[in-house]
Parts: sequence; C-alpha cells; structure tokens
Amino acid sequence: LRFPVICIDGPSGAGKGTVTWRLAQALNYQLLDSGALYRIVGLKAFEAGLITEDTSNAIDEQAVLALTQNLKISFVPNNDSGRVDIIVNGEAVGEQVRNETIGGYASQIAVFPEVRQALLKLQKDMATRSGLVADGRDMGTVVFPDADVKVFLTASAEARADRRVTQLLTAGQEADFEAILATIKARDDRDENRATAPSKPAEDALLLDSSTLDANAVYEQVKQHCRDKG
Ligand code: C5P
Repeated sequence: LRFPVICIDGPSGAGKGTVTWRLAQALNYQLLDSGALYRIVGLKAFEAGLITEDTSNAIDEQAVLALTQNLKISFVPNNDSGRVDIIVNGEAVGEQVRNETIGGYASQIAVFPEVRQALLKLQKDMATRSGLVADGRDMGTVVFPDADVKVFLTASAEARADRRVTQLLTAGQEADFEAILATIKARDDRDENRATAPSKPAEDALLLDSSTLDANAVYEQVKQHCRDKG
C-alpha cells in the first residue's frame, strides 16, 4: 500500500507554509515541515558552539552529524498557529526556531551530505502511514522523487522581502527592507548552489510564481493542479 505524496518546494517566503497547511487540512494528510528539521539541527549546532556568528568559520560536519543522530523529532499540528509544533526529544521547541537567524544556521548545516542523509529516513517514513504534504527544497527531487504531485513555488526576492517587512511591522517589530532583502538573497544563494540536494524544481514540477498572487490564489492553483494529477 502506498500513500499519496504532494511536494511543495521553493525558497522561504514564497508562501509554501500556508498552502501546505491548507492542503494537509483539506485532505486530512500529515504535514512534513522539512525546513524545521534543518532549523532544529542549526539551533542545536549553534547551542553546542559549532556555529559562530562569523560565517567564514568552518563548521565541524562530523560533530553536527553526531548531534543530528541524537535528535528525535516529531510534528504536531497546531490549529491556532496554522503550522506544526516541533517536538524534539520529547520537548516542544519554541517559535524562536522560525526566525531568520536560525534559518541562516539551518542553511549552513544543510550543505552537509551526511547530515541530510541522517534526516532522510525520518522524512521518508512520514509517507508510510498516511497521505503527506511535504514542504521543503528537495522534496520533489531527492526525498520523494516518485511523488504524485510536485509544485515549485517561487516569488521574486523583493516580493518575499516585502512580505517579511509587513509581517514584522504587523507584529510590532522593526523591519529594514534592504537588510532583509540581502539576508534572503544570501540564503537563496547558499541553498541553490550547494552540491547536495540544491533547491531547484523537479523536472515534473508545476512552476508557480506567487509574486503577484495572494495566498488564496496560490492555494486554488495548487488545488487545481492536484485535481489535474488525479
Ligand atoms: O523552509 P525553511 O526556511 O524553514 O528552511 C530553512 C533552511 O533549511 C533552508 O534555507 C535550507 O537551507 C534548509 N532546507 C533544506 N532542505 C529542505 C528544507 C530546508 O536544505 N528540504
């Protein structure tokens, strides 16, 4: 018995999180937030002193791998936040793991092939119990190459930075457009140009640019694509 898998890949801020959540709710599928896995490893590596603020310092891959192998990670849907809560070794991880600093740490350890390999089984196993909607960079290319539906959701770096600014201002925080844009571009660059599992569309993925679309329009187009794929 094989359960259906829907992959939603693309850079951060393109709207993957929202469409993934809505699909998982509508279809009653599990949700894999693969970025959260890399974020947790990035956070733990930082806490262990393996990542420093100076990005030119080399990171000890074997030490990050050892730390990764000791993590037991699971996800619990949270209807209030509209995403999954992350449970690591039995404890819920706070929302701070979602911030841009941790996103940067995540992309620094995400270049390591052995770390990616160590996270592979957990990801694949999530498709063995029920249908799955998987959000990430390499869901359609590496983790679930046989997925039923693949979407690569992008938006211009400027549109994504604009959204981020609005989010921060709405939350009563400060936001500097140029600084945010530079951070987004640096993370995209690292994710797209690494040797192992770079962020890129699968050959059979639907390419969708959300620069001028709202979340509802994105959801409707992805839903239609799922219907087309049967
Ligand atoms: O999607 P999110 O912003 O949470 O991902 C954080 C980082 O984790 C990405 O910038 C990327 O470096 C890494 N990642 C990855 N492969 C995935 C998901 C995330 O390399 N499937």
